Amino acid sequence: MSEPLKIGLAGLGTVGVGVLDLLRAHEDLLERRCGRRIEIVAVSARSRKKRRGDHDMDRYVWFDDPVAMARSEGIDVLVELMGGEDGPAKAAVEAALSAGHHVVTANKALLAHHGTALARLAEENGVALNFEAAVAGGIPIVKTMREALAGNRVSRVFGILNGTCNYILTKMEDEERDFADVLKEAQDLGYAEADPTFDIGGFDAAHKLSILTSLAFGTEINFTDVYVEGIENITLNDIRYARGLGYRIKLLGVAADTGEGIEQRVHPTLVPIGSPIAEVNGVFNAVVVQGDFVDDVMLSGRGAGAHPTASAVVADIADIARGNAVPPLGIPADRLEKCTRARMRAHEGGYYVAMELPDRPGQVAAVARAFADENISIESIVQKGRAISRTVPLRDGETAEQTAPFILITHDTLESAMRAALERIEREGYCVGRPRMIRIERF
Ligand code: NAP
Ligand code: HSE
Repeated sequence: MSEPLKIGLAGLGTVGVGVLDLLRAHEDLLERRCGRRIEIVAVSARSRKKRRGDHDMDRYVWFDDPVAMARSEGIDVLVELMGGEDGPAKAAVEAALSAGHHVVTANKALLAHHGTALARLAEENGVALNFEAAVAGGIPIVKTMREALAGNRVSRVFGILNGTCNYILTKMEDEERDFADVLKEAQDLGYAEADPTFDIGGFDAAHKLSILTSLAFGTEINFTDVYVEGIENITLNDIRYARGLGYRIKLLGVAADTGEGIEQRVHPTLVPIGSPIAEVNGVFNAVVVQGDFVDDVMLSGRGAGAHPTASAVVADIADIARGNAVPPLGIPADRLEKCTRARMRAHEGGYYVAMELPDRPGQVAAVARAFADENISIESIVQKGRAISRTVPLRDGETAEQTAPFILITHDTLESAMRAALERIEREGYCVGRPRMIRIERF
């Protein structure tokens, strides 16, 4: 029997405790599968006093400093579950790799910002950098793309990549609940990031998408090129109107090779009810990979939470225990291509537009003219009766006693044309406030 694989665990929060639970529950099973024992020997967190589920921390060597643990001769693998794109997480991962220790991390922020450099450092030191848990929680999408789909040229990868947002949007739709109320629940369930604006602002999904883009197209990770919009402005009315028109709202991440560059975008998206992605609800995530030989592959599962994420972390540890080794990003870091950006204004798709129109003759015609002048074809229009009476200031100083919600869906059109039409509608004061648009993805 081989020597045990010795683990130093940095981070004993939601995911860290999940990993402790799993390694204890499946100690023997893992030994049989890997041919050696997996043993936690050292741990690190900020507070030594905090309870860590029902686990006894006195069994392990305690480090106040995760970087010292990462360098320690006593470990084979650093498991980094602290989070954060820089700071102790980056320092500890770099220290471990430089010391010739393998690294397993769930930290997508770190990889989005420094993934290519860290992959290079791992390769130079002949060690693994595994990060299955960094993308879509328990779903084995990294291994699938890096290994199982190695024979395919990928044209597009897209999916629901943030459990917190999907949970919020699902609860808002199913239970007509308030955004803030559901966010609190997602935090209590351990789904949200330490700073939940990363979730609802779309940045966490963008971190994950930048990693998937690299795996899909063999490019360096390029987070700064991701176009990001979050779900913070989605209202219950948007969800209701979208449903009335046959759509559901999801926070979608999409990466595609457009021929003009790689498009990477994360934004709220209307997806047709009945499409597989529209039926992925709650904390579940799903990723669809479109390969030239395999066609579409869709994986779905729990995208956040202690145990699903621990499942992915432990799979990475098992790979190291078994001696499985592949370049972290599928292609050696020095052979990755630069990721060239496709301009968002060149994006082509359908749009949902919502605005509040003063209830006067000619308003709808003016809006329709603004779209027609940009060559935008309208697929459907909904005007929601007469609205509540109120006084609203308009740009030309008038006031409208009544307004009416006005919703439309367009056929596929250029983003630049859509933005021009909406700017004109706002500038010429056809609607009250700003018109809002949500992109549509048709599959
Ligand atoms: P968490 O509950 O906030 O836990 C973070 C842990 O890191 C805590 O134990 C904390 O110590 C420790 N820590 C923070 N700063 C430290 C420092 N300077 N030195 C030593 N320890 C430090 O976070 P989490 O939800 O488990 O997430 C951990 C990582 O997994 C993040 O990268 C996150 O993005 C990723 N992830 C999370 C999920 C999920 O569902 N939660 C899913 C996939 C990936 P104390 O406990 O003493 O404060
Ligand atoms: N906060 C993340 C989410 C955790 O909600 O998806 C999983 O990466």
